[in-house]
Formats: sequence, structure tokens, C-alpha cells
Amino acid sequence: MKKRAFIKSLAALGVGVAPGVQAMEKMLAGAEGIPAIKLASDEDFWAGIRGGYRLKPDYINLENGYYCFVPQETLENFINHVREVNYQGSWYMRTVQWENKNASAARLAEMGGVKDEEVVITRNTTESLDLVITGMDWKPGDEAVMAEQDYGAMLNQFKLAERRYGVVNKIVSIPNHPKSDEEIVEIYAKAITSKTKLLMVCHIINITGHILPIRKICDMAHSKGADVMVDGAHAFGHFEFNINDLHCDYYGSSLHKWLSVPLGAGLLYVKKGKSDNVWPLLAEGKKEPNDILSLNHIGTHPVHTDLAIINAIDYHNAIGGQRKEERLRYLQTYWTSKVRDIPGVIVNTPKDPKRYCGIGNVGIEGMKPHDLAKTLMDNYKIYTVAIDGANVHGCRISPNVYTTLEELDVLVKACKELAKS
Ligand SMILES: Cc1ncc(COP(=O)(O)O)c(C=O)c1O
Repeated sequence: MKKRAFIKSLAALGVGVAPGVQAMEKMLAGAEGIPAIKLASDEDFWAGIRGGYRLKPDYINLENGYYCFVPQETLENFINHVREVNYQGSWYMRTVQWENKNASAARLAEMGGVKDEEVVITRNTTESLDLVITGMDWKPGDEAVMAEQDYGAMLNQFKLAERRYGVVNKIVSIPNHPKSDEEIVEIYAKAITSKTKLLMVCHIINITGHILPIRKICDMAHSKGADVMVDGAHAFGHFEFNINDLHCDYYGSSLHKWLSVPLGAGLLYVKKGKSDNVWPLLAEGKKEPNDILSLNHIGTHPVHTDLAIINAIDYHNAIGGQRKEERLRYLQTYWTSKVRDIPGVIVNTPKDPKRYCGIGNVGIEGMKPHDLAKTLMDNYKIYTVAIDGANVHGCRISPNVYTTLEELDVLVKACKELAKS
């Protein structure tokens, strides 16, 4: 069955119209032609977007960084994919499974501005990046560069490579408030030697929301002969960029984060011609040289999630990537600008809007991050996550497109009161 026929049969099953979707369509039509930066502060517009979500009334959710749970429309589509795949059973798996997966991967490639043959769907960033780390043809004494602010799972995978292959890990530290891009590039440059094979860098540091100058880091690393793997767990679907423009060799992201795909979807980009530099984690049958699919064998998996990627991209595009980016940055600026200069409040995210988007991190002098997170929840009904390490002590604040200014006002009030006490 062709993709179009599959979609048609879904319609026959009766895809429910999700709450808020019709209102959203009307509202989106009314917003046409309004610059994204202007729309960022249009509370009526964003209230309409909020209508597309089912929100728990128990607390203000400022912890979207783990999982940007899906809007109702994507959820309904996903549930219908589960039903349809279950209805078609093995027939689906033996006929259109791969064609449909390739179609979803092609949409990701289009969104990332790269070639179809450079992208595969994985289950998450961990799978994407750890398979590159473990799959490099390491020799004892080869070096890898990373930062202490990188994600634990990848740092652990490098530690494993250290034990297993004798890789030497060089760990740098990224300041929360750099003076310039060059300061950051220089930190990485100093750690590279003639033995450096791979440099890992976060596109956006998950604990602070700090966006790093990736292209400059890649160009510097390449000039010294090192490949670059970018951890884009929090970047894809959060702010606009083209993977190709970053000049990296490998890129991984989790689609269940800012693209709001149902749980368990990731992306791996490998620059054309580089796939054979990585040993597969799970062996694939014979492929053409440098076929990225040789890295993508995972056996039977939840294929309905692959299908929902297209729904999530359609939803993202309906809102508009630029609009989403401007709104998320607007929300971050809204609360950080109200607390940044208050004595006793420590904002651990740079002030320059080029260096952040929706995520921020805030600490209170003399208060342990876990106590801050607990107090925010117990006294203000704000759900966040505590970060206490790698030179970052505070709570990560990650709103989403449905977050209101009133909700952020509660956070601002909490910061003011807690800094005073
Ligand atoms: C920077 C970064 N990298 C990697 C990951 C791992 O993502 P996942 O658990 O989806 O593989 C995360 C998760 O939060 C992250 O923040």
C-alpha cells in the first residue's frame, strides 16, 4: 500500500479532530503576514496555541526540557497510527514499514536542511551519539574532547571507550557567561592535539540553555584535523538552523523534546561520506559503501512512532518554526530580565539573546538547587528540575509554547521572595 493510501485509510478510521485545532487554524490564518518577532508577544495568539494542549492543572510545568509532551492533535494522530499498524499487523511490517520510515526520515532531512541519505531515525540522542562514540575506530592513545557541561550519558560512553579502547578524554569547562564566541572556541582549541579524533559539543547546553557557536568550533576543530559530533538534543524544533550550516560531521537530537514527537524518537545525521568511519552498534547486512543505513539496524521497533514524526513536523510548521523560536526566546527574556539584577538571584544563562532561546537556569544564593526545586513546587506549584554540578547550581526553567506570562510571573515572584529571605 502506498503512503497516500495509508493516510486515506487512517481517515476512514476516523481521525478525531483534536480540541482546539479548529480554533487554532482560524487563529493561524489571522496571524499571516505578522512578523514572528511581533507575534511573540501576542498573548491572544499564544493562548490559542495553548488550547491545543491538555494541561495538568496541578502545577505550572516549567520542565519541558525532558519531554515536550505532545499537543492533542499529534496525540490523536499517533493513537490512530497505533490502531492502524495493529490492524494491519505483519502485513504492514512486511510491506510499507520501510517506505513510510524513509518518508519520515526524508521530512527530518528537509527540516534540517540536509540530504536524505545523511539522516536516519533513531530512538533518541543517546542512541544517535553513543553509537558514534563507541563506533569510532579508536586506537589506544587517541584523544576525545568534551565539556563537563555535556550530558551524562555521553560522558559515560566516552568513559567506556576509555576503559575499552584506551581513549584519552580531555574535559573542558564552558563558562556560563562568556565574553565572546572566540573565548569558547579557544577553550576547545586548547584541548585539541594531533591525537584528537573526535570533539563533542552541545548545540545548546541542557542545564543552562546556553547556545554555543557551533560553526566556529567545527571550523577550528577541522583546521586541526578533528571531527566534530554535535549534541543537538535540545536544538531541533526549538530554534531555527540548518545542520549543513553548522559544518559538523555528526549530529544527534531527541525528537520527543522540542519537536514534540511522542516518546522514543531521535535523529542521527552523518555527513555524506563519513558513515563508514563508524562501526555499527548492531550489525546490518551488506550495504553500499558509506550508506548511513548500515548504522540503523535496531530490529523490530514501534513503527507508529516513526509515522507520528510527520504529524509533529506538520504541527511545528503550522505554528511556524520562526514564530516558535521567537516566542520561546521572548518567554525566557520575560522572566530573566525581571530577576537577573536582583541581589541574591543568580541567572546561570548568558544575557546575550544570541546565546539562548527558551531555556534558562536560575539559582538563589545560599539555597541548594534541590531545596529550591522543592520550594518552588511546594510553595508556588511550579515544576522544575534541580541542577547541581558542572559549575551550574540552580533550577532549569524550560517553558513551552503553551506557557503564559502569568505563569512566569509566579516564578518571578518566587525568585524575588526567596532571594529576600
Ligand atoms: C544535552 C543532552 N544530550 C542528550 C540527552 C539524552 O536524551 P535522550 O534521553 O532523549 O536520549 C539529553 C536529555 O535530556 C540532553 O539534555
